[in-house]
Amino acid sequence: MEPSLSIPLRLYREGSASFYSTDLEHLRKMGLSYTKAPVFYNPRMKLNRDVTVSVVRSIGAESAADLMAASGVRPLRLALEAGVNEVAANDSNCLAVHVIRMNARLNGVRMRITCSDARLEAERMASEGIRVRYLDLDPFGSPAPFLDSFLRAVKRGGLIGVTATDTPPLFGIYPEKLFRYYGVVGRKIPPHKEFGIRALISFAARIAARLDLVIRPVLSYGREHYVRVFLSVDRGPSISNRVLRESLGWVEVCDDGYKFHTGVEIPRAECGELMGPIWLDQITDLTFLNSVNPLNAEVESLISAIASEVGGPPLYIRLDDICSRLRVRMPKIREVISSLREKGYFASRTHLEPLGIKTNASRAEVEEVVRNLTAS
Ligand SMILES: C[S@@+](CC[C@H](N)C(=O)[O-])C[C@H]1O[C@@H](n2cnc3c(N)ncnc32)[C@H](O)[C@@H]1O
Repeated sequence: MEPSLSIPLRLYREGSASFYSTDLEHLRKMGLSYTKAPVFYNPRMKLNRDVTVSVVRSIGAESAADLMAASGVRPLRLALEAGVNEVAANDSNCLAVHVIRMNARLNGVRMRITCSDARLEAERMASEGIRVRYLDLDPFGSPAPFLDSFLRAVKRGGLIGVTATDTPPLFGIYPEKLFRYYGVVGRKIPPHKEFGIRALISFAARIAARLDLVIRPVLSYGREHYVRVFLSVDRGPSISNRVLRESLGWVEVCDDGYKFHTGVEIPRAECGELMGPIWLDQITDLTFLNSVNPLNAEVESLISAIASEVGGPPLYIRLDDICSRLRVRMPKIREVISSLREKGYFASRTHLEPLGIKTNASRAEVEEVVRNLTAS
């Protein structure tokens, strides 16, 4: 059943913004999912927007745009809570754009509001030289078709925040689509969530390189049904060459653990299946992270979880995977982490997976720790 335009709007409040969007309760009573809303709004993505506000506030951006703005809640919040002076909102759904205009008036926020395809709008911004310091990319599903035009619309020295909800391909559940959309060879492995984030960043780095741009991830995380990366964007063909050489690479999935090969060329396999090219360098910059002033306790707890993982190897291992190989009961994850630290290894939990451990200990060393803990 097609949603009808007679679905009423409702007034919502999120952060400092009051705004109208589709009445989700009414939609639910009609048996329709929120994805069918004539004007899209997903309250479950509030944390995503809270993190965005925290990040944009920290960089002191004077200009920002959401070219897939739906109700306009994100650009409104950037204006009201992150103090951005020049805000632009666009959507290809002109009904949504009508609602954005209403919402901008309601909040007394001046915004550039357009109804266009996001790629055309980004290209237009770039060609007219009105690039923004912060650009948000928040599509339905994959950001891959939009990155090229969006990167052109970011000011050099600016940031792009990318959300991807097409996690099945990124996580290697659909390997063909992972290759088709992101140019990455892979299939689902136990640390699939971090693999997916690294596949997305690798894709962005290669798209940026075609434009003589260089991206660097400053903050990356995964939550519920999506992954999110904030990338700094700069000019520099020569830096871009170096980044591709030093930050991209391949993971070899071997029986005794993951081996990492830096560089874009396909390496010679030594012990297992090769997957890549993925981003092997840090996916979060600790200095940047420390500069972010969290908007609320939930953002603070996410940021501190991410901070504890920085410095670990590119992929976590999973305690359930280790224990099922060893056929032993599962010890407490914090005991495994303390034992590894006592032995002098880097060890931390990961916000991506309750049973994930980031450690530079080899699989054999982790297995020994697990055996000792389960024998006692
Ligand atoms: C996931 S929603 C964005 C949500 C919004 N950023 C927020 O934080 O609430 C995706 C939006 O993109 C719009 N959209 C989809 N394809 C588009 C395109 N090619 N150009 C512009 N907007 C598009 C949809 O109409 C929808 O409003």
